[in-house]
Amino acid sequence: MENYDELEEVIDMEIKKIGVLGAGTMGAGIAQVSVEAGYSVVLIDVVPEILAKAVKGLNKAWARAVEKGKVTVETVGNYNALLISSTDINDFKDVDIVIEAIVENIDIKKKVQKQLGEICKPDTILATNTSALSITEIAAATNRPDKVVGMHFFNPVPVMKLVEVIPGVVTSDDAVQAVLELSKKIGKEPVVAKESPGFIVNRILIPYINEAANVYQEGIASAEEIDKAMKLGAGMPMGPLALADLVGIDIVLAVCEFFVKEFADSKYRPSLAFRQKVRAGHLGKKSGKGFYDYSK
Ligand code: 3HC
Repeated sequence: MENYDELEEVIDMEIKKIGVLGAGTMGAGIAQVSVEAGYSVVLIDVVPEILAKAVKGLNKAWARAVEKGKVTVETVGNYNALLISSTDINDFKDVDIVIEAIVENIDIKKKVQKQLGEICKPDTILATNTSALSITEIAAATNRPDKVVGMHFFNPVPVMKLVEVIPGVVTSDDAVQAVLELSKKIGKEPVVAKESPGFIVNRILIPYINEAANVYQEGIASAEEIDKAMKLGAGMPMGPLALADLVGIDIVLAVCEFFVKEFADSKYRPSLAFRQKVRAGHLGKKSGKGFYDYSK
């Protein structure tokens, strides 16, 4: 792998306008930090209700920031002026990068990335926010595999400092360097990881959450006790089951299943607790119930 720290600053891939595709939790967070860093952002979701909810959520977060005295009302006005929301994917035609944060499904990601390649300028970088999937496979579906880069953000995006930057097999050094620069400019600390299922963080974090769910499933302790134990005994900022609820139990299950398939190793076998909760529609915070009840 190249030493990206030593690469020259790129001049032909300077990013001024950012497209974000998918206005769910991750997409909204990515749009938020990008606007706060002064970038023009086009946030697109094909579902108008999801888009409206995201814009409302951003303004709620900014209103709280005003209340806390962190920003002025005028600054929030500037943020809103930088943010264009749309349901038409053709509005990405003049952006310098698209950060796609849609559903974690390889076939849908490939189809959508191919479409982005047809809409965007030839130089536009196509970044994909994925928990675990192959950047090379997604890139190969597009007309510009050298400009496709993995850009893995963490939930909650405005708080978590890390971005994993993952080149695919044919990703150019220029594209990687441009994404590293952008990550820093939006206030994040990037690390480069080679393409491998789960990259760095999820390769380690998901089996940990899975084991916590096994401890729960075996009745060794309640969700509250497990989380308390890991917070007070291992210094975690939040317990593993609360974290599963935050990330989405469906996502955690999908990553476990992907690991089993990719590594052909049963050590990643997902906990039955995940399957039962997903079957019941208890996906965590986003559905109002998971290991905990958020409806009250
Ligand atoms: N959105 C925006 N800001 C948030 C937030 C959210 N959802 N949740 C908390 N914050 C902010 C608060 O406003 C507060 O800001 P302030 O200090 O400026 O007032 C600050 O974060 C601290 O919040 P709280 O005091 O309410 O709560 P905590 O101190 O307990 O922190 C936490 C909450 C940041 C979520 C912390 O518990 C934590 O770091 N948890 C671990 C999260 C984690 O591991 N994320 C990675 C998940 S894996 C992933 O995303 C990858 C995927 O591919 C699976």
